[in-house]
Amino acid sequence: MSFRALPLLLVFSSTFYTAATAVSSSTLLLARSRSATPNAGAPLSAWAASVAAQSAADTARVASMLTPAPAPAPVGKGKPAKPPKNKGNSPVPIAPGRKILSIPNYVARAGLGTPAQTLLVAIDPSNDAAWVPCSACAGCVSSPSFSPTQSSTYRTVPCGSPQCAQVPSPSCPAGVGSSCGFNLTYASSTFQAVLGQDSLALENNVVVSYTFGCLRVVTGNSVPPQGLIGFGRGPLSFLSQTKGTYGSVFSYCLPNYRSSNFSGTLKLGPVGQPKKIKTTPLLYNPHRPSLYYVNMVGIRVGSKVVPVPQSALAFNPVTGSGTIIDAGTMFTRLAAPVYAAVRDAFRSRVRTPVAAPLGGFDTCYNVSVSVPTVTFMFAGAVTVTLPEENVMIHSSSGGIACLAMAAAPSDGVNAALNVLASMQQQNQRVLFDVANGRVGFSRELCTA
Ligand SMILES: *[C@@H]1O[C@H](CO)[C@@H](O)[C@H](O)[C@H]1NC(C)=O
Ligand SMILES: *[C@@H]1O[C@H](CO)[C@@H](O)[C@H](O)[C@H]1NC(C)=O
Ligand SMILES: *[C@@H]1O[C@H](CO)[C@@H](O)[C@H](O)[C@H]1NC(C)=O
Repeated sequence: MSFRALPLLLVFSSTFYTAATAVSSSTLLLARSRSATPNAGAPLSAWAASVAAQSAADTARVASMLTPAPAPAPVGKGKPAKPPKNKGNSPVPIAPGRKILSIPNYVARAGLGTPAQTLLVAIDPSNDAAWVPCSACAGCVSSPSFSPTQSSTYRTVPCGSPQCAQVPSPSCPAGVGSSCGFNLTYASSTFQAVLGQDSLALENNVVVSYTFGCLRVVTGNSVPPQGLIGFGRGPLSFLSQTKGTYGSVFSYCLPNYRSSNFSGTLKLGPVGQPKKIKTTPLLYNPHRPSLYYVNMVGIRVGSKVVPVPQSALAFNPVTGSGTIIDAGTMFTRLAAPVYAAVRDAFRSRVRTPVAAPLGGFDTCYNVSVSVPTVTFMFAGAVTVTLPEENVMIHSSSGGIACLAMAAAPSDGVNAALNVLASMQQQNQRVLFDVANGRVGFSRELCTA
């Protein structure tokens, strides 16, 4: 797919790729698009630019998903020294970060430190480590940041500690006992951070000594500006750090991407999860220990299963191919042959000529059309049927709508990875039950 080929976007010329991969600069992109084409249907081109920026940001994220990373150190046997005594499991309100912070991730209010400093952190199921911008961070966008010196409970994590062995590329030039530094990459950005611990509150759920990276240097700008909490499966993720309290179980309901209310919820632990929920086995890829792989066995458009080569859906831990559930990617990416089959079936059901491609999407309509449902089919006879809201993205003026999915990059390690993204999970409760090796889905309206 070529985002740069879109006529509406030619105006961005060579700066488009870098600007668009950084979702935080999409507002800049919009401003420029308006001034460059004052009379050429500004709302539509602004929308297209915004969607293209989002879609390109997804590309950067998906592209970095399977890129080789240093193998994490083996997880130590013991749990964190003292599992916090916390019986609370109040639902944590979440909202799309798109309007609030111009990021594709969903965000929650976190209180870090004592007294609590409030940050709007991204909730990211495909990453493990947590990190926040700390005061005097070079390259962090100006935004609230965390000031360790203002917290009476902040501690740096020393070199030689088990947590230091779990971060990517730990750096301990001054040896055991000095503070543990580390580098990491996120989408197209790289960071340098110092490992610290402090009290973390998500709504009323308090974790006494949460280990996170305090950002010192950031290069690139594809970064949630107020930090991120990894909800992946690997060491140092929220699940791993709170295993004693929440038993490696969480769920979320993502509200519609246009909503700005914190009407979605993140639920921690097994208590309060839906009792009746269809679940499919969770698959584990030792080379990508953070990711939530599931076995997607087919896709229906309307009532018909689309012809997809099984090889394009198959889970293969060696190549990383298969299907993951992610919430930091906005639009579902399907391996090229899978996407082509879905798109063709979709177009033939809609029976209306497609309009010009827009914002990275190739199946757009400029008249009102009635669209078929799309159903993801998973092992265990679990099906998730997407209503129109989860299938089509509409321009703000309502004049055009596109099938909100795209093909994965055509080459490279990510070509065979299917990523089921947030737009397709809106108003569903998605349960990640690592303890019992399953992922569940149940329709739930959480858009206020
Ligand atoms: C971290 O990144 C900095 C800047 O790129 C580099 O100087 C340093 O060597 C890196 N440290 C590690 C442990 O990779
Ligand atoms: C959501 O936002 C709308 C518009 O601002 C407001 O009227 C409504 O009360 C909000 N709902 C909730 C649950 O906060
Ligand atoms: C709508 O799309 C069709 C098919 O591409 C095209 O012929 C027509 O000009 C478009 N109409 C508008 C108003 O853009």
